[in-house]
Amino acid sequence: MERRTKTIAIANQKGGVGKTTTVVNLAAALSARHRAVLVVDLDPQAHATLGLGLEKEPGTSLYPVLLGTKSIADVIQPTKWNNLNVIPSEVDLAGAELEFGARDDRLTMIEAALRPVKESGAFDYIILDCPPSLGIVMTSSLVAADGVLIPIQAEFLAMDGLALITGSIERIRTSVNPSLELNGIVFTMVNSQAKLTHDVIAEVRNHFGEKVYETTIPRNVRVSEAPSMGTPVVFLDPRSRGAESYKAFAWEFMAKNPTRFDAPKRAPEQPAPAPEPAPETAPETAPAHEEPDGSRHDAQ
Ligand SMILES: Nc1ncnc2c1ncn2[C@@H]1O[C@H](COP(=O)(O)OP(=O)(O)OP(=O)(O)O)[C@@H](O)[C@H]1O
Ligand SMILES: [Mg+2]
Repeated sequence: MERRTKTIAIANQKGGVGKTTTVVNLAAALSARHRAVLVVDLDPQAHATLGLGLEKEPGTSLYPVLLGTKSIADVIQPTKWNNLNVIPSEVDLAGAELEFGARDDRLTMIEAALRPVKESGAFDYIILDCPPSLGIVMTSSLVAADGVLIPIQAEFLAMDGLALITGSIERIRTSVNPSLELNGIVFTMVNSQAKLTHDVIAEVRNHFGEKVYETTIPRNVRVSEAPSMGTPVVFLDPRSRGAESYKAFAWEFMAKNPTRFDAPKRAPEQPAPAPEPAPETAPETAPAHEEPDGSRHDAQ
């Protein structure tokens, strides 16, 4: 069956706000719910690549595809988890800002590189991990995306940072990519003890309404330890608060961004699909599922 692929850029020009952690754990939680996911690591720091258990290796990133020396199919790699694939990053990508900055097609180069994958329908979600700057790689990622998910921390001047990135989204929408949407805003590394946290979250909700995800991600030490193990925390320690939050976030994300699993009608001659719990189901009540390899995953 043809799949409708959603391409989501996870972006914020501010560094260290939890972009990569959100990419890795959202992708992992979606893959555990049988969604076919492709992570594209567009940051030369390659933290998403490492966090998904792969190494940095020359020639394995999107860079040679942008240069035209490799096809996109050559750079998609499986991870050790079902349904979870990655186009890694490595240092070459650091040159992209300078080398590709003068190209006429610099804004559309990532969109063009990803188009065959989108059109193949092989993935439910393509998730782009953007570098922390408003440079050419991030801009062209937004051109390639259907939606932008913005992780932010609930701290002083959060609204100013949001204004910068939502301004960029607006400029791209009115110029190159009219279908670009603000997918949502997710609060990361939340310290619920702090009054400022509640004030900032309330202010952002007041301004952005339902674009702000209900689920917030707490600061949790297991989340910060997981990258050194090359394993998303949702797989490493599924019962930790950080993992539970990312799994709940993935449910909310799936409900807002339905794909083939959520298609309302199927042709009568097709066999009935295995029932999927509704994404609205509270994460605590969602059942564990059996992986095709027989291993049991608690994967809501
Ligand atoms: N919920 C969390 N609890 C504890 N630590 C976290 C959490 N989320 C992220 N971190 C840690 O914060 C640091 C920054 O996170 P991350 O790398 O995801 O941010 P980023 O926005 O991708 O950074 P950059 O802008 O450099 O790409 C990392 O060390 C990460 O392990
Ligand atoms: Mg990052």
